[in-house]
Amino acid sequence: MHTSPVIPVMVINNLEHAAPLANALVEGGLKVLEITLRTPVALDAIKQIKAEVPNAIVGAGTIINVDTLNQAIDAGSEFLVSPGVTDSLIDAALASGTPILPGVATPGEVMKLMEKGINAMKFFPAEAAGGVPMLKSIGGPLPQVTFCPTGGVSPSNAEQYLALKNVACVGGSWMAPANLVDAENWDEIKQRAEQAASLKA
Ligand code: 3PG
Repeated sequence: MHTSPVIPVMVINNLEHAAPLANALVEGGLKVLEITLRTPVALDAIKQIKAEVPNAIVGAGTIINVDTLNQAIDAGSEFLVSPGVTDSLIDAALASGTPILPGVATPGEVMKLMEKGINAMKFFPAEAAGGVPMLKSIGGPLPQVTFCPTGGVSPSNAEQYLALKNVACVGGSWMAPANLVDAENWDEIKQRAEQAASLKA
């Protein structure tokens, strides 16, 4: 969470796009990459990026149960991101030793994870769940928790999130939207990554 201010959330439909997309993001300054397990090629994309883009720190997103957690770890994921939490998922993640950024949207969910010793979480879906004011409010009684807000974060609001004491980084897809990836516009993606990497964490 402290390596770069923005974690790109990547949806890869075409395996041939995996390495050039990852390269564009890493060259732009974003080393920590979340590949969502939402497409049939996602696990192969993780393997390929790990093999071909040595400077990337490759994680898997959309971890929704123990099966997807195991698949992601088997593919070589260095970290895991989930949209929400269940006891079985969190217990399996802690037992695996692979770091997880678990998704929460309410103080109760935050407290349940604190009971399991987790103090770093994804706030999801950030904008829909109350955005900056919600995170500020959670920071009152629960200041020891650090968040990565994701979902509806964009260049127009990222700095407001990053200015919060309890935000270490944000996640988002705006650096690599489907239209730019489909067009193989790696230059534009690299430029967007550079802008994102220059945001103040
Ligand atoms: C997602 O659900 O795809 C991620 O949270 C990214 O959300 P975004 O597309 O709003 O950045």
